[in-house]
Amino acid sequence: MTNFEVSHLKVNYRKNPVGIDDFHPRFSWWISSERRGFVQAAYQIQVAFDQMFDSEPRWDSGKVESDSNVHIEYQGPALQSRTRYYFRVRAWDDQGKVSGWSEPAYWETALLSAEEWQAQWIAAPLSHQRNEDDPCDYFRTEFSMPDNVVSARVYATSLGLYRLYINGIPADNTLFNPGWTSYNKRLQYQTYDVTSLLSGGDNALGCILGNGWYKGYLGWDGNKDFFGKERAVLIQLHVTLSDGTEQIIGSDDNWRTATGPLLMSELYHGETYDARLEVEGWSSPGFEDLDWQKTVVRDRPESALVAQENEPTRIIETIKPLAVIHTPKGEIVLDMGQNMVGWVRFTVHAEAGTIVTLEHAEVLDREGNFYIGNLRSAKQTITYICRGGGKETFEPYLSFQGFRYVKVTGIPQDQLLEQFSGCVIHTDLQLTGSFNCSDELLNQLQHNILWGQKGNFLDIPTDCPQRDERMGWTGDAQVFIRTAAFNMNIVPFFEKWLKDLAADQDEEGRVPHVIPDVPVAGYGSAAWGDASVICPWTLYQCYGDIRVLKTQYPSMKAWVEYIRVQGEDEFLWNTGFHFGDWLALDAKENSYVGATPKELIATAYYAYSTELLAKAAAVIGETEDAIKYEALHEKIVQAFRQEFVTPKGRVASPTQTAYTLALMFDLLEEKDRYRTAMMLKDQIEENGVHLTTGFVGTPYLCLVLSRFGYTDLAYRLVFQKEYPSWLYSVIQGATSIWEHWDGIKQDGSFWSDNMNSYNHYAYGAIGDWLYRTAAGIELLEPGYKKIRIQPQIGKHLTWVDASLESVHGPIKVFWKKQNDTSVEMQVLIPSNTMAEIIIPTMEPNRILESGAPLEQVISLYSVEQTSEGQRLIIGSGNYQFTFPLISEN
Ligand code: BGC
Repeated sequence: MTNFEVSHLKVNYRKNPVGIDDFHPRFSWWISSERRGFVQAAYQIQVAFDQMFDSEPRWDSGKVESDSNVHIEYQGPALQSRTRYYFRVRAWDDQGKVSGWSEPAYWETALLSAEEWQAQWIAAPLSHQRNEDDPCDYFRTEFSMPDNVVSARVYATSLGLYRLYINGIPADNTLFNPGWTSYNKRLQYQTYDVTSLLSGGDNALGCILGNGWYKGYLGWDGNKDFFGKERAVLIQLHVTLSDGTEQIIGSDDNWRTATGPLLMSELYHGETYDARLEVEGWSSPGFEDLDWQKTVVRDRPESALVAQENEPTRIIETIKPLAVIHTPKGEIVLDMGQNMVGWVRFTVHAEAGTIVTLEHAEVLDREGNFYIGNLRSAKQTITYICRGGGKETFEPYLSFQGFRYVKVTGIPQDQLLEQFSGCVIHTDLQLTGSFNCSDELLNQLQHNILWGQKGNFLDIPTDCPQRDERMGWTGDAQVFIRTAAFNMNIVPFFEKWLKDLAADQDEEGRVPHVIPDVPVAGYGSAAWGDASVICPWTLYQCYGDIRVLKTQYPSMKAWVEYIRVQGEDEFLWNTGFHFGDWLALDAKENSYVGATPKELIATAYYAYSTELLAKAAAVIGETEDAIKYEALHEKIVQAFRQEFVTPKGRVASPTQTAYTLALMFDLLEEKDRYRTAMMLKDQIEENGVHLTTGFVGTPYLCLVLSRFGYTDLAYRLVFQKEYPSWLYSVIQGATSIWEHWDGIKQDGSFWSDNMNSYNHYAYGAIGDWLYRTAAGIELLEPGYKKIRIQPQIGKHLTWVDASLESVHGPIKVFWKKQNDTSVEMQVLIPSNTMAEIIIPTMEPNRILESGAPLEQVISLYSVEQTSEGQRLIIGSGNYQFTFPLISEN
């Protein structure tokens, strides 16, 4: 029996995914071994139609000499549609020992060709001529089934948002389907395993259809119907019987439709539900639907139907209200204690016709009254009309709210606390990171970063979840993606979004400001459009995923080529509209745009995106492009220096963001870098240890300070409690990240209503610095195949405990000062990876590992003196280091 095993089998980052249309899915696994320094020498993958592997494998990779255990592509015979494939893996170590076969896992294909859709798109007649409120459509059909059903799958999608029911029961617990994509080009469909919901005899399918992103209000100028004027749905049920035969029930004009209790449903505005109009059993067999209308068949939309790409959206957790507040204005307000995104589920016992309203807000004003000014035109109101005759429970269907406070009318006060719960809804991403430390304020900051991510990762990465915006702002996504990749596994989520970015990019390569594109927002700003390059590169870095680079490469190249023809010369970007250093504090009065010249920011990002494009080209084997774009990068750097740096090497625009970008993107000559870093340091100290940076400068500020030896100042900025700072909002009681440094000003007043969100994750990008510097978890090779552990032990902290579940397995760092003389540091390195540990001491003999001197440490390959301390190269395993506490940052 070998002392290592293969586990955590995944396909395209997901455990046993059902309904994927990837012809070459990729396998990954972990090696679990107590042994230090474990290296995989080879692997073997078998794929079969049954999990017992009794029959001849469908594909057998044979023994493959490789130390890779991630992103291994299926290379077997062409995959069949609607088929479950089981796979198992075993691995060899570098001593020739082989593990046992792993537990089998599986994936199931969806409809691999568009021809397999037999169902028809159906709609409610004249639904496009409805009144303002536009009540939701209810669809149903009945069908009978023999009782030897062995498996049943529904494939469904819609123009609008839909909820699917089988025999009166929700098909599953996923929400906001089909999700938001660039609807006129790509439309997702979902796969539902409904085997357990069907029975012999009569069965029924039902569906509720509402406006959603497709037809609902989108943008801040009250427009709607951006993607289409008419809702429609497409549903196809495949039932396999024990004799191998199959029955298909598809949507067609035999289905019936009507409106019902859901009188209004809008993402921004909430829902109106009249429970008196409920019709019991509408989605169950035997329901009398004669007075329902026949549906009408609609043409198939142009957009390509793609199987769900990202994880589904679900209720991830529920939270109970903390308190009932009676405001000075006499409002009854529930405090959820957390600025969350989702909806409220409540139970009421009242007369028929009783109207219950729930309004949702992020903050109370300084008098303590309910405040919805910053929602702009978004009403975020649930209106429920009771049916009476006992307890009734309600939660919305197709709308979500961003809120901490809920103003309730129509429900007796004593029922409030018990009868209400907040359902936190976001894309069901796997949590991968954790960061805790000895400072409660900093832990709250990390909490707010994570809840900012939860609140703005509902099917797409949004800027905010409450006002009449909630859009896929590209700039916000690119500044936050590295932090996001620590907290959660974000690949399928961003892969989908980036495909929509490429789909909405125009023929010139211009990238819309928001993805999916909503024309109100606009196109082609530096630092926003660069998401097209920075996001795929970051996913490659954090997960070692070459596929996302290959998929996005044409879009990445098109963006750089778009910029190339913008400037007066091809090496500078000094034309066009740019957001600049959005919301920076060195902006002129009443301007949202910081003082750093837009063309400086534009050219800096042009250089950075071109550098990343050259690197991406090299990684995917586009050698010629790699050379071409590296040369272009060089030229842009030269042009940047000529235009924005004085002959003496001084960055002409003395802003924190200008210094930060010039240093972060290596735009200065070596000789000018430390001086510029010192000028940045001086500028911050002269400003009372306060930042002035906006959306563009903030994500890199502390990373640059640490890189150039000013980690102490970075810590002082992070621990700054006075405005402006990250902790100012925490001290003001924030439970998520604010759009403005002073969303709530020191006098308790608010930023103007025209743009003031209390759930905007852009400034949460400081998380990246916390994980890479305070915890010291850094990648040296993509996917953390090689890791650097180098915590910067600050004087503000006595311990940090952080972990990251990488694609190779968990990485952990827990450092703790022992009586101010020494540090204990526990490090966990996943099997089949290597690490470099930098221990800040110049005396290697004073370092102990598990109490033993270094020369006795197993799988310690080398110890080398560097300017930063001892560099230890180690293999995988769990280590316990002790070393003297010398310099404190
Ligand atoms: C959004 C931001 C976005 C900005 C760009 C705002 O309205 O909320 O997230 O980055 O516009 O201007």
